[in-house]
Amino acid sequence: MTVPDLERYKREKKKVIVVTAYDALFARIVEQAGIEAILVGDSLGVVVQGKQNTLTVTMEDMLYHTKLVTGAAQKSLVIGDMPFMSYQAGTEEALRNAGRLLQAGAHAVKLEGGGAMLDRVEAMTRVGIPVVGHLGMTPQSINQYGGYKVQGKGKNQAKALVADAKALQEAGAVAIVLEAMPAKLACTITEQLTIPTIGIGAGPHCDGQVLVLYDLLGLFDDFVPKFVKPYAHLKADALQALRRYKEEVEQGKFPSDSESYH
Ligand code: KIV
Repeated sequence: MTVPDLERYKREKKKVIVVTAYDALFARIVEQAGIEAILVGDSLGVVVQGKQNTLTVTMEDMLYHTKLVTGAAQKSLVIGDMPFMSYQAGTEEALRNAGRLLQAGAHAVKLEGGGAMLDRVEAMTRVGIPVVGHLGMTPQSINQYGGYKVQGKGKNQAKALVADAKALQEAGAVAIVLEAMPAKLACTITEQLTIPTIGIGAGPHCDGQVLVLYDLLGLFDDFVPKFVKPYAHLKADALQALRRYKEEVEQGKFPSDSESYH
């Protein structure tokens, strides 16, 4: 998948399917599964680094993980997430940091927010940096929301989100992630755009879906939002394997003859 394919997928009503990945091993597994787009999300702050939220993730962290993914992914569209304070302070700084993510191998960058971010999106688009927008419950604004709360429930908030989505498209965004908002609102936004919407907790009417890989695999269960569907239970499998390994070493069953050199 390439950036221009995004609009084509929307025209052809083909779903844009995205998952996050943060390292080479999982980037390869995602590709083997036939998933065409990888988001190196700043969610790594929570699921990889063990923090409470994404606010402490740095540009250096994002560059490191983006390089791991792009070094392994052969044909995926890789979107690099812009971490908190890498683009909020000004357009010039935003431009430089977005450029660094492309130099690390990403094909597009993602940033959170609507109105206030339009000049950044325009500036990046002008110099050839494709931008994915992100609206609704944007995790970098968690302190403003007072927690991870569904956004766009009221009429005015919903109207503002529709206007933000249109403005992002106008500014050059190539797709927009819609996070934690009523399905009906996400449907309205989707109908009004020519670029694809990629939902996470935004119902079934978006042009595509994205999930955090470790949520999808049932690896991360500290906090499981309503919109997550675990398609596997890898944490339970890992626990079982590790306990069996410990038990077998304690009982002298591992290593056995077949795991020994002669
Ligand atoms: O950082 C991330 O993984 C994200 C997705 C949840 C959309 O922004």
